[in-house]
Amino acid sequence: MKIAFIGGGVMGEALVKGVLNKKLAAPGDIVATDVSEPRRTFLEKAYHVQTTGSNAEAAKKAEVIVLAVKPQVLGEAMTEMKGQIPAAAVVVSIVAGAKIVTLTTGLGHGAIARTMPNTPAQIGEGITVWTTTAEVGQDQKSAVQKVLGALGREIYVSDEKYLDMATAVSGSGPAYFFLVIEALVDAAVHIGFTRDVATELVLQTALGSARIMQTTGKHPAELRNMVTSPGGTTAEAVLKFEEGGLRAALMQGVIAAYEKARKLGEAPGK
Ligand SMILES: NC(=O)c1ccc[n+]([C@@H]2O[C@H](COP(=O)([O-])OP(=O)(O)OC[C@H]3O[C@@H](n4cnc5c(N)ncnc54)[C@H](OP(=O)(O)O)[C@@H]3O)[C@@H](O)[C@H]2O)c1
Repeated sequence: MKIAFIGGGVMGEALVKGVLNKKLAAPGDIVATDVSEPRRTFLEKAYHVQTTGSNAEAAKKAEVIVLAVKPQVLGEAMTEMKGQIPAAAVVVSIVAGAKIVTLTTGLGHGAIARTMPNTPAQIGEGITVWTTTAEVGQDQKSAVQKVLGALGREIYVSDEKYLDMATAVSGSGPAYFFLVIEALVDAAVHIGFTRDVATELVLQTALGSARIMQTTGKHPAELRNMVTSPGGTTAEAVLKFEEGGLRAALMQGVIAAYEKARKLGEAPGK
C-alpha cells in the first residue's frame, strides 16, 4: 500500500511508526511531508521513509493519503493538493474538528475518511472513531481500518454525528483521566507518600482497574462493590465523592465538551 502522510509531526510520526511496525507498507512505499526541513531529515533517518516539502507531490502517487496537519494549516495544505489526488485514492483526515464537507470541498475529492484519534495513539494505545463518505469502497475501508489500527483500537461509525460525540468522550477523555490521576496522586502525597510512590500506586491502580474491567466484562458498579466492604474505608471515600458531586460533574463535563465540539463544527470554514 502506498501511503502519504501530510504533516510529519507527533501524530504523523506515530502513524509512520505504527504502519512500519505492523508491516502494512514498506518504508519505500511511505512518503511523509513536512514544512520543516530538519523534521524531514529526522523522519528519513529514523524510519527510512521518503520525505518531501511538497504536499502535492506526495499526494500524486498515493493510494492512501493521511492528513495529519494542525487544523489552522489544513486550508493551505488542501489548496496545495486540490486536483493532484488520484481518483482511486482515499483521504484519511485525523484533523480534529474538520468536517467531511470541508474536506470534500477543499480537496475536490469524494473518497474521504474522517477520524477522531486520541493522544495514547502516540504509543499505539489509542482509540479512533471513524466514518467515511459513500464513495469509499470496501477495499479502501479495510485499508483505512488497518492504518488506524496502527494507532491502537478503532471503531467505525455510520454517521459523522458520532465524531463530535467521540471528541467529547475519547478525544478529550485522556485529559479527564489525567485530572483524576493528578488529584489522586496529590491526595496520596497529602497523606504521606512520596510523589514517586504515590504516582506508581495511582497509575498501576488505574491500569489494573481498566484491565480487570476489560478482561472480566463486568459492570463497573459490580467491580466497585467488590472493593467496598460494609462500613469500610472505600464506602467512606465513595460517600465523599458523591457528596462532592463527582459523578454529576463528570457527566456534565462530557456533555459540555460535546456541545462545544458541535458549536465549533458549526463555525464558518469548519
Ligand atoms: N496529538 C494527538 O494526540 C491528536 C489527537 C487527535 C487528533 N489530532 C490531530 O492530528 C493533527 C496533527 O496533530 P499533531 O499533534 O501531530 O500536530 P504536530 O505535531 O504540530 O504535527 C503537524 C506537523 O505538520 C507540519 N506542517 C505544518 N504546516 C504544514 C503544511 N502546510 N504541510 C505539511 N506539513 C505541515 C508541522 O510542521 P511545523 O511544526 O514546523 O509547523 C508539524 O510537524 C491535528 O489536526 C490534530 O487535531 C492529534
